[in-house]
Amino acid sequence: MAEGEKALLEVRDLRTHFDTDAGTARAVDGISFAIAPGECVALVGESGCGKSVSSMSVMRLLPSPPARVASGQILFEGRDLLGLSNAEMCAVRGKDIAMIFQEPQSALNPVFTIGDQVAEAYQIHHAGSRPREAWEKAVAALRSVGIPDPESRAKDYPHQLSGGMKQRVCIAMALICSPKLIIADEPTTALDVTIQAQILDLLRTLRKEHNLSLLLITHDLGVVAEMADRVCVMYAGKIVETAPTRELFAKPLHPYTQGLMRARPEPGSSRHGRKRLAVIPGLVPAATQFKDDCRFRTRCPLADEKCGSEPALQAYDGEHCAACWHTSAAGVQAWDARDAKGGPA
Ligand SMILES: Nc1ncnc2c1ncn2[C@@H]1O[C@H](COP(=O)(O)OP(=O)(O)OP(=O)(O)O)[C@@H](O)[C@H]1O
Ligand SMILES: [Mg+2]
Repeated sequence: MAEGEKALLEVRDLRTHFDTDAGTARAVDGISFAIAPGECVALVGESGCGKSVSSMSVMRLLPSPPARVASGQILFEGRDLLGLSNAEMCAVRGKDIAMIFQEPQSALNPVFTIGDQVAEAYQIHHAGSRPREAWEKAVAALRSVGIPDPESRAKDYPHQLSGGMKQRVCIAMALICSPKLIIADEPTTALDVTIQAQILDLLRTLRKEHNLSLLLITHDLGVVAEMADRVCVMYAGKIVETAPTRELFAKPLHPYTQGLMRARPEPGSSRHGRKRLAVIPGLVPAATQFKDDCRFRTRCPLADEKCGSEPALQAYDGEHCAACWHTSAAGVQAWDARDAKGGPA
């Protein structure tokens, strides 16, 4: 986000912890980011990094206990969502901020028609509306997300639709009260590749048409490259690198980001004769095991004794920030060094 620009959403030093039998899971542990009106910010990282816990914290949808916001602020248009009553938060959900999930199947109720479900989403925030008006709004919303023949398809039940069409219905539900921000948590992961491209295309078009802000959660750097203005790379509950998308891809500074990029299949590479995909060795540690060190040190080819204390997120080039003791404005080539030493790919 450019300096001086007013954020629509600003998350400041958010910590969401879970009290479990195995100890405190510091799933989200001090993250800060902002989204400007109309901007798309991607949260990217491997499974278990805290992406969904971050988004569910913004929506205040995590059951407490076990979840507990240990610190931070979630400012939406300057108002801290963490300070709202449940009733006030219900008014924000759907109307100001809406959410799209990975599994459209589980987001829809199998016993109601899709028209009824989209109409209900409208009526939640338009209590005085007549059923006919809500139905017409629902049909219009279904049309706007590319459902063909929406008047008759509105009478279908979810099982009568393909996965891609179901995700379009979920997007219609998210859009029906004209929210300013949509949080999409892996919106295309459950869909096959051609349908994925169509849904991403739809999200891009709707974003432009409605000047929507989008918080896009994904583990897919290809999706990030296509969709996001800015990227926050998460590792083990922290943001370890953030940059405008183009800069991140041009010069990833953090060894973790570089590792993720190496692990990407190259476009156009054939199945046969392709070199083995380079994976990042090891696993994200369990959230109950996080320490106050660099959490990537157990997997990082550059790790040394400095990494025993936690590196802060530091700006290297304008808005390009990384949290690593070993990086510099010129960057580091963490994995090339490892490859040269003959480490496993
Ligand atoms: N209810 C819970 N109780 C305890 N720990 C939890 C709970 N929910 C999530 N966690 C922990 O929080 C961490 C982050 O989980 P989260 O679901 O945010 O990951 P993610 O980045 O969305 O991963 P994925 O890509 O698989 O969706 C994980 O270590 C997970 O085990
Ligand atoms: Mg998730």
